[in-house]
Amino acid sequence: MLIRSNDTGEIRGSEITPEAVYRSRRGFVRDLGLAAGAGLLAFAPRLPANMPGSNLPSEDEPLTPESIVTGYNNFYEFGTDKEDPARYAHNMTIDPWTVEVAGQAKKTGRFALEDLVRGLTEEDRVYRFRCVEAWSMIVPWRGIPMRQVLEQFEPNGNAKYVEFTTLLRPSEMRGQRSLFSGIDWPYVEGLRMDEAYHPLTLMVTGVYGKELPNQNGAPWRLIVPWKYGFKSVKSIVRIRFTRREPKTTWNLTAPKEYGFYANVNPEVDHPRWSQATERRLPSSFLKPNRRPTLPFNGYAEQVAGLYTGMDLARYF
Ligand code: MTE
Repeated sequence: MLIRSNDTGEIRGSEITPEAVYRSRRGFVRDLGLAAGAGLLAFAPRLPANMPGSNLPSEDEPLTPESIVTGYNNFYEFGTDKEDPARYAHNMTIDPWTVEVAGQAKKTGRFALEDLVRGLTEEDRVYRFRCVEAWSMIVPWRGIPMRQVLEQFEPNGNAKYVEFTTLLRPSEMRGQRSLFSGIDWPYVEGLRMDEAYHPLTLMVTGVYGKELPNQNGAPWRLIVPWKYGFKSVKSIVRIRFTRREPKTTWNLTAPKEYGFYANVNPEVDHPRWSQATERRLPSSFLKPNRRPTLPFNGYAEQVAGLYTGMDLARYF
């Protein structure tokens, strides 16, 4: 049973959607094989670190409670408070969902999302997730390795980068109507092609064994676990292969604070705060749960080689 609550927190009968109806509405997930995610439903809050696909460095890092993962969000299209996305994102229509593919590739055009994911395999991955605002979580995502998604478009030799764009729909996204967001919508992010093809990079479709809630970026969003969270763009409607580094939202908005690379790096501070430590959620005044931040968010072994020879203080 999928239950959606309205702004006042009340649940109306008309808003209780039988799960079967909901699942067929978002049928692509069924096509991907729910079996992959079924195991997740049995997740206890503490998951063995050595489970396949876990990518967790140690067992003393329990999963962040689901209520925090889906209730404490950044999705400025719905407002700047951490509670705004959970409060307002249900206004976003996610079915039908089309994706435009453009740029340096053989196959371009407009595609229904279910056609883009047909035949691809979802995987369960538990990742550390580190926001630039210095809080972090441990999240059980479900998604498709990005490489599988991108290769089907046959990018050509000129494709050096890939740009991702979020839905632009002010009628459903109150933050896009706000005069004070300071953001030139839509939200755009980008990766180098080798970053996009890295096995850790996921196009995420689910979390905690369920379909991705709107506030987390339904129906699909990027997750790049070794980069600050703002790279992980939500609710993607456009994929564009480019020769040049894409112009990205936060880099355009505050270039001194947010670079294109945004690799988690305890040695390069944000101009207004240190990045040496993080608050692992749940965290409170009395129990801050602060811990050292690890280079590349703990994934250095897997990804540091992508940046050999680069000055990471310059390319931050
Ligand atoms: N994507 C869009 N379209 N809009 C946003 O405001 N915020 C980013 C990122 N993706 C954002 C976005 C930031 S700053 C973070 S930390 C993560 O989403 C938060 O993801 P979560 O809410 O699933 O934890």
